Amino acid sequence: MTESVDIIYGLAWGDEGKGKITSAMAKNYDWVCRWNGGPNAGHTVYVNGKKYKTHSVPSGIFAGKKCVIGPGCVINISKMLEELRMLTMAGFDVNLVKIHPNAHIITEDHIAYDKEHLSHLGTTAQGIAPCYSDKALRRGKRAIEVLEPNWIWDGELSGKVLCEGAQSVWLDIDHGDYPYVTSSTTMPYGACSLGISPKRVNRIIGVAKIYDTKSGVDPLFPQTLWNDPVLNKIIELGGEYGSTTGRKRLVNWLNLDKLKKAIRLTGCTELIVNKCDILEQVGEYKLIHGNEVNTFVSLHSMKDYITGVLLNTCTDLHQITWSGDVETI
Ligand code: IMP
Ligand code: MG
Repeated sequence: MTESVDIIYGLAWGDEGKGKITSAMAKNYDWVCRWNGGPNAGHTVYVNGKKYKTHSVPSGIFAGKKCVIGPGCVINISKMLEELRMLTMAGFDVNLVKIHPNAHIITEDHIAYDKEHLSHLGTTAQGIAPCYSDKALRRGKRAIEVLEPNWIWDGELSGKVLCEGAQSVWLDIDHGDYPYVTSSTTMPYGACSLGISPKRVNRIIGVAKIYDTKSGVDPLFPQTLWNDPVLNKIIELGGEYGSTTGRKRLVNWLNLDKLKKAIRLTGCTELIVNKCDILEQVGEYKLIHGNEVNTFVSLHSMKDYITGVLLNTCTDLHQITWSGDVETI
């Protein structure tokens, strides 16, 4: 029986630093689970000053926790094995990682289709959409059919469970900026697909950044943003390059209207805002609210403004934590 379930998820367009937060919090849990996505995700985590990049394995691996890849995830077997090899070499116990029998398998054909037909959407070219399409068409291959039995997990979660989202609200297949979205449920309710009663969910922890970024295409991020020298400075200082694709991410000022909507849509109880130190290094403090760019004299006054707007308009939200790039909470 699960005792309590906490959920970490992204409130923007991905790359908010969910992996960092998950690995920092994982020590307090029995299980760390992924419920959506696959090798399109890129989670960057620092352990004892060393940088690790994962795609499919839950960030609980760094804390030696039992890790589950849920039925709503998709798996590229060779990439997964590569990731497990890397983690083994680094001294982490990969026997803790188990996969739900119903997770779907990405094939070479899925990747080829993605590259040939979906590049105009700026996908990560990992075969994600074709794999989920075959799942819906009832012709996909599931983990139970192809993986060694020792990888398969068909048990029940117990104790304290932490669920780690991949991608984010505005990439969600139902609520995101369609068609510039991914193919899975990135919203926190997706965590219940792991076999969790919504009644057990306790903390709903949304992660955002103090500025917005978009990896791939989205008309909300016009190409003219590339010409702004201050936003380019954020790209460089913030290291805003895709951890899966290596692509430069398009940066814009924080859209507070979108953030508020994302928090309200998902019932976020705690908000973590990452990369505040990057804005401080850049020395310009702006956000978009009511479709206007607002300028602040300091990071402090910008934080006060955000806190005022969000705590007054988002009923379930009761805590905001400000964080830096590498620092954990
Ligand atoms: P797909 O998930 O590869 O089909 O890509 C669809 C859209 O989601 C593209 O705009 C990608 O850039 C974006 N996307 C997918 N996964 C991530 C992620 O982990 N971080 C940021 N963007 C992502
Ligand atoms: Mg990422």
